[in-house]
Amino acid sequence: MMADKPTYEKLESIIKELKAELVKSKQIEESPRENKEKFNVMLQSIGDHMSMMDKELNIIWANKTAKKIFGNDIIGRKCFEVYHKRKSSCEPYPCLTLKTFQDGKVHEHYTEVIDKNGETIYFHCTANVALRDKKGKPKAVIELSRDITEQKRAEEEKSKLEARLQVAQKMEAIGTLAGGIAHDFNNLLMSIQGNISLILLDMDSTYPYRKRLKNIEKQVQRGAKLTSHLLGYARKGKYEVKAIDLNQLLEDILETFARTRKQITIQQDFAEDLSVIEADAGQIEQVLLNIFINASDAMHGCGNLILRSINVTHKEMKGKLYKPKSGNYVLLTVTDTGIGMNKKTIERIFDPFFTTKEMGRGTGLGLASAYGIIKAHGGYIDVESKKGQGTTFSIYIPASEKKEQQVVKTAEGVIKGTGTVLLVDDEKIIAKVGQDLLEAVGYRVLIANDGKETIEVYRKNWKNIDIVILDMVMPNSGGGEAYDRMKEINPDVKVLLSSGYSIDGEATNILERGCNGFIQKPFNINDLSQKIRKILEKKFSQH
Ligand SMILES: Nc1ncnc2c1ncn2[C@@H]1O[C@H](COP(=O)(O)OP(=O)(O)OP(=O)(O)O)[C@@H](O)[C@H]1O
Ligand SMILES: [Mg+2]
Repeated sequence: MMADKPTYEKLESIIKELKAELVKSKQIEESPRENKEKFNVMLQSIGDHMSMMDKELNIIWANKTAKKIFGNDIIGRKCFEVYHKRKSSCEPYPCLTLKTFQDGKVHEHYTEVIDKNGETIYFHCTANVALRDKKGKPKAVIELSRDITEQKRAEEEKSKLEARLQVAQKMEAIGTLAGGIAHDFNNLLMSIQGNISLILLDMDSTYPYRKRLKNIEKQVQRGAKLTSHLLGYARKGKYEVKAIDLNQLLEDILETFARTRKQITIQQDFAEDLSVIEADAGQIEQVLLNIFINASDAMHGCGNLILRSINVTHKEMKGKLYKPKSGNYVLLTVTDTGIGMNKKTIERIFDPFFTTKEMGRGTGLGLASAYGIIKAHGGYIDVESKKGQGTTFSIYIPASEKKEQQVVKTAEGVIKGTGTVLLVDDEKIIAKVGQDLLEAVGYRVLIANDGKETIEVYRKNWKNIDIVILDMVMPNSGGGEAYDRMKEINPDVKVLLSSGYSIDGEATNILERGCNGFIQKPFNINDLSQKIRKILEKKFSQH
């Protein structure tokens, strides 16, 4: 049988079939390429860093992310050089990739790499076998790395915050203790001081024990300085807040400081337009004096003390351990050319009772209280120093929009007066010594020992009472409540607050509510008589 002759139609259909076969076979042929491309697209679109290394640690393939981070020219270069800027394989040896080459297993670790701009990036890195040779041994290893820089920074920030919180809690606890001790000591000192003042008042200048009494008084004053440092550290004692000019305060302090330290050359560079600060001048003076004395000690009394005041904003306070609150600040820098400090000393200088000075020369409370005081003023204090190269303290205090208030200096010495004083103190010994002091300078005195009694005595006698000296911490309603009740009875009541220490902010609160003044225990007869006169003078000049 003869085979059918192919007709045209048949030929047509065969060609069609062949064409279809051809397409099919082409598809089969194209499939691995297509797959490879698809695979490549997939790899390139992965956000994590991927790169493949051969046994000699040459990078033989990298995805887009890797090239973006380390540069487009990384293929063919050594991984340790590209990722770690090293000249030889990474330590500890063998590195992650080599371990995978050795045992064919997956290995992972955390590492630091350096990108093309020199910035450090933190990676979590996994190495796995990518290709094997005919014997099944790893021929190429692929590393997949995730950038965990942000996560790591957040963790670091968190642990820094926790550390700061711990320090703050420690400071708070020691502060409460310090404040409590200061209060009790101030009351003790008050009673000693009061009695000395009274004896001295009666004693003529030729009396043989007068000198001894004066010595005791000096020690009381040293004790009072110590308690005021404790109060500063406890962030208490910021009572007489006024809008003041820091330059002026500096000039005043330097005048006395320079007189006693003639070998020190003082250079001043004060901004003429320096903003006003709202501060307790007495406390800021305490901070500055301590820093000046420290500088003088560090220079053994001879060298340069350079002072600079300038207006800044929080933006200029970069690279600090703390995050400053936004706003304007007044910056004072105090530089000395003294012995400087090593890192270990710097870390401890704000700790209470840390001193390198010999016994009897330093208590180590100066900077601890400076820190507390500046903090209580919403400011910051920094130090920069190198052993043998001098020291610079930088003090930032928030600037105020208020107008400067003149600090009126009172006359020195005892000022006699007349009128009636209601003296309020829960400690009977102090009330008694206070009464004697006041009577000695001419006042008639009424006494109250707690809040309730204060209100009762005031209600009965308010028309005759010229001024109330009010203790802050008292049983049966504290000083704050007593003040409000007296104010209800007589809106013009004149009150001088007195305290050895006050519960948080209470004194400041009362002062803000219009109280007329504050006197810190232990006070001597001079301070007391001057403060009373100042308030009463205003009272009489108003009428
Ligand atoms: N300008 C400085 N140069 C070198 N060291 C300093 C300087 N200021 C402070 N120090 C170091 O810091 C320590 C603590 O200072 P701080 O003022 O708190 O206490 P103090 O001066 O030792 O005692 P106090 O101030 O209670 O009399 C000092 O003993 C000293 O070692
Ligand atoms: Mg000091």
